Amino acid sequence: MTGSTDPSPRGLSRRGLLALGGGATVALGAAGAMTLTGPRPQPGAAVEHGLEYPFYGEHQAGILTPAQDRMHFAAFDVRERCSREDLVELLQDWTYAASRLVLGLDVSASGAFGGNPLLPPDDTGEAADLGSSGLTITFGFGPSLFRTATGEDRFQLVDRMPADFVPLPKMANDFIRPEISGGDLCIQACANDPQVAVHAVRNLTRIAIGRAQLRWSQLGFGRTSSTSTTQATPRNLFGQKDGTNNLKAEQPDRLAEHVWISDGPQWSHGGSYLIARRIAMTIEVWDGLQLGEQDRLLGREKGSGAPLSGGSEFTEIDFTRTGPDGKPLIDERSHVFRTHPDNNDGIAMLRRGYNYVDGNDDTGRLDAGLFFIAFVKAPGRFARVHTNMARDDMFVEYLKTTSSSTFLVPRGIRDGEFVGQALFT
Ligand code: HEM
Repeated sequence: MTGSTDPSPRGLSRRGLLALGGGATVALGAAGAMTLTGPRPQPGAAVEHGLEYPFYGEHQAGILTPAQDRMHFAAFDVRERCSREDLVELLQDWTYAASRLVLGLDVSASGAFGGNPLLPPDDTGEAADLGSSGLTITFGFGPSLFRTATGEDRFQLVDRMPADFVPLPKMANDFIRPEISGGDLCIQACANDPQVAVHAVRNLTRIAIGRAQLRWSQLGFGRTSSTSTTQATPRNLFGQKDGTNNLKAEQPDRLAEHVWISDGPQWSHGGSYLIARRIAMTIEVWDGLQLGEQDRLLGREKGSGAPLSGGSEFTEIDFTRTGPDGKPLIDERSHVFRTHPDNNDGIAMLRRGYNYVDGNDDTGRLDAGLFFIAFVKAPGRFARVHTNMARDDMFVEYLKTTSSSTFLVPRGIRDGEFVGQALFT
């Protein structure tokens, strides 16, 4: 272990190399390190095919990036014996590997096929021919990184924890399983090819061996939001257009107001809070509802996505319009009524969730739902909207939340820095 706090991710640390060597600690000496510490890839470096998003920037990729089709989300616990220096070194190693992966490269220069045949390869190789496929890798810090459940300040970070970083209140139909919630660190890997996203998480997990351990992970298919006006609105597993009234990358003023952290410690500014909730949907029950009732529960037409107050998909919702019977066209207990900024002190959020199906239960029902992800300026703002939803939303009867986590996604970095560097300096 070097224990180096050199901020420049010039290559994997010796500790990272040892992790990749799968315990071949004796065999991997200085020569091994040399083969791995190749020239750093530059953004825009040639990849044979595939869509590429820049790794460096003011904000981390994977928030405003047009939502890709696939996701692998993973949460990690830092191992008990790890020091602050080990944590920094892990973040440096992850930064280096991630900066290569998003270009469609292996985690190191010798990669999957070019290393010493007497050692396990550095990269697992299953994404070798798939290009970058629009991969983004977004890192986040859990509250337990700053202060453990027993109040311990393991990494001398407690003074730097923002006051806003508070737990979410328990909601109606929350059946939270602690073993698939929380974590010290998280990685959200999104790509247009599932194998590219899985490869990223798998290899970053491998690099972390001895320093951080996978706590839980979730696969998602089919984005349930648009994060850019250039994207068509996708559908969730209730068959509804989802993401119509989402915040979009093309609205910088609204993003500044609702998504980017601007209060609290300086190091956190420009970051965002990621709320992740695994929401099981009772789709078989939903499927038995009349179409008109499905529309009423949401407040929009299932087919077109238009608000029940009239117009087409992107027409502004009008909660004041009434029908011939004098009743509002959009029910006050519908999902859009409960969550719309007009009914929540103006609060909006950037949603970026995915559908999931994790097999089925023993009664033959699919274990399916929405892995809900939202980016917000402060967890309390999310809680404000969510409380309004959980209390009165007719939707909630068809939902059951099994996992809930909040992570602080630090701001983006420049080439030569490591993810989250401002927290440590
Ligand atoms: C499985 C659970 C959920 C499903 C199926 C779902 C589905 C939808 C759909 C179809 C829309 C309308 C289209 C759109 O504007 O995007 C919508 C809007 C919205 N949802 Fe959800 N949603 C779920 C959970 C949540 C949760 C947990 C929150 C957080 C409080 C939330 C917040 C919102 C917001 C803020 C809007 C936009 C409202 C507006 O401005 O008109 N949703 N959702």
